[in-house]
Parts: sequence; C-alpha cells; structure tokens
Amino acid sequence: MITEGLKGRDFITLRDFTKEEIDTMLDVALQLKADMTMRRRHDDILPMRTLFMMFFNPSLRTRNSFEAGIFQLGGHGHFLQPDATRLPTLEGEDQGYGSERISDVARVLSSMGDCIAIRILGDKVGWEYDKSLKIIQEFAKWSKVPVINMEDNKYHPCQGMADVMTLRELFGRDLRGRKLGVTWTWGSSPKKPIAPHHDFMYAASFYGADIVFARPPEMHIDPEIEAAIKENVELNGGSYSVVENMEDACENADIVYAKNYVCLDLLPPVTSKPEPDEMVKLFAKYKGWIADEKRMLMAKPTVQYMHCLPCERAAEVTDYVLDSKWGNACFNEAENRLHAQKGVMACIIP
Ligand code: CP
Repeated sequence: MITEGLKGRDFITLRDFTKEEIDTMLDVALQLKADMTMRRRHDDILPMRTLFMMFFNPSLRTRNSFEAGIFQLGGHGHFLQPDATRLPTLEGEDQGYGSERISDVARVLSSMGDCIAIRILGDKVGWEYDKSLKIIQEFAKWSKVPVINMEDNKYHPCQGMADVMTLRELFGRDLRGRKLGVTWTWGSSPKKPIAPHHDFMYAASFYGADIVFARPPEMHIDPEIEAAIKENVELNGGSYSVVENMEDACENADIVYAKNYVCLDLLPPVTSKPEPDEMVKLFAKYKGWIADEKRMLMAKPTVQYMHCLPCERAAEVTDYVLDSKWGNACFNEAENRLHAQKGVMACIIP
C-alpha cells in the first residue's frame, strides 16, 4: 500500500488533498471492499489503534461505519458520549467546570489514542456557519494525532469520498460525458445540512463530469466552494452550470442527486440570528421540488438516485424512487461510507 505523504495528515476537508491523493485513498477503499467480498481479513493494517469519536449530533451511517471500520482494520473505536463529557470549548467560551478547552481535550485524547474524529454542526453551534469548522480546526491544531471531520456545517468529506467511490463503481474513473443532475429539494424542516451537496459536487468535479445544479434563486451554495468546483472542472474537463428548475438537471441525467438543505442567507453570519420560521416560509414556495417518478423518467433509462441519507420521504424523494431500482446506488453510497473511511483511516493513521 503506497500511502506516502498521507500518514499523519488530518482529514478535515477534501480541499486539503490533491486528486492523486484522493485517488490513492479510493484505491485502498476499493481494495478493502474487494477483500470483504472475498471474506479476506485485513485486521493487520491498524492493529491496536484507537479512534476516538466525538458526535455532538446524531448519526447512523457515520457512527457505525467508523466503529465497524476501525475494528475491521484491527483497531478499536471509542465513542465519547457527549452528555458524559464536558463540553469542549474554544478560548473565551469556557463554562467553569462544565466545559474543557479544546486545546486541553485534544492534547489529552491524542496522548491516549491514534486518531480523533469529530462531528459538530447545526444547532450545536447555534447554526453559525463557520464555527463548526473552526472547532474541528482547533482540535487539529492541538492534537498530536490525525483529526477526521465527520461533518461540519460546510464540509462532509467522508461523504464526498463515499459518493465519488459510488460514481467510480458505476462509471469508472473517468466521468467525462456523464451528466450529474444535482438538485435542492423541498424539506419540511429548516435543519438539513448543505455540506453533503458541497462535497458531492466538489469530489465529482475532479473527474470530468457535467454537473448541472438546480436550485431556487435563494438557495445558492457557499460561493467559495462553488468557485473551487468551477476551478476543478476547468482543470479536469467536464462542466458546471446552475439552473433554476429540477427538470433541466434531471433531463438525460446519469445520476439524480436530490436533497434539501438550509438557506445560507438565513443563518449567521449573514443574518445576526438563525431565522427558522423564515426558512420554512421560503421552502414552502418550492414544495413541488421532489425527486419523483416523472422527473426520474426524464433521465437516462439507467439513471440512479443518490442521497447521503437520512432522507425525508415524500419531501425530498418519493417512496417509489427510493425503493425501486432507482434507489440502488443510494444504498451502495451508504455502504461505501464504511469502505471509503477505511481507505482514509488506513492511509492517514500512522
Ligand atoms: N450521511 C450521513 O452522514 O449519515 P448519518 O447522519 O447517519 O451519519
């Protein structure tokens, strides 16, 4: 396994890695997936390593794929129960005996184990867009071992890896000529993260796909990430365009990636406080935005639906789309969280 240059690195955003480095981690992930299919063990890759997992938000896929993954590599996943741990805080936010500075938590955990993985987003940081990433970066600054981002408000790099692994299994390494119809959908609550959209499109932008992104005018993504996606498609072939109706994204698509996410303009720092009621009102204008049979039938006959899950049925996607052959890739995408993260851990954990 050639992982030169990756050992000891943090995995906080895909933007910290080159295409070649992402490919290396994906190659390892695919090999580990093939091993499992053949029932070949690989618990000699990270024997005796401990992964500390800090989840401030709920999780099914991320939690279980990391815990199963580190075990299959020969190590141990240690889940830190948030309620049983003092709140890790940034300098200036200390709460007496109720909190412990991130600089202290990171130094203590990294003296006892081999990797620290963190999920923090949404209401856990008062919906302050940049704050959750800042917290993870603060952990990385003080930790002696690699830090993995298990999702913040802006990035979900583990999801991006699983997404692009799923695309590679469907179409091969080269996505040139493949249309990815990516779209915002309606959702009943103002809580769903934008990070999976960011990292789906950012990861895919390395491989020459034609990304057609549909969203209502108010639902733009982070302009900085959009600029990075555009730069990538220019460098690697493919294209990126924004449209304002789902049909243009779905028509003749190889993939329909459809999910709801929050409106950045109704969250801090753009507004001084989160505006959940305003967001629900805004979403209501676009209630018909759903991945349904009619739209899937506009795509190629081989089209697959993708979503990071959990999804809101009857809001983001119909039962029929998710439960028919169209939904197969979505569940492979969820399974690939296990393999992709094993690829990442095998490459970065010393
Ligand atoms: N896609 C994803 O991150 O799922 P969980 O929230 O269940 O971890």
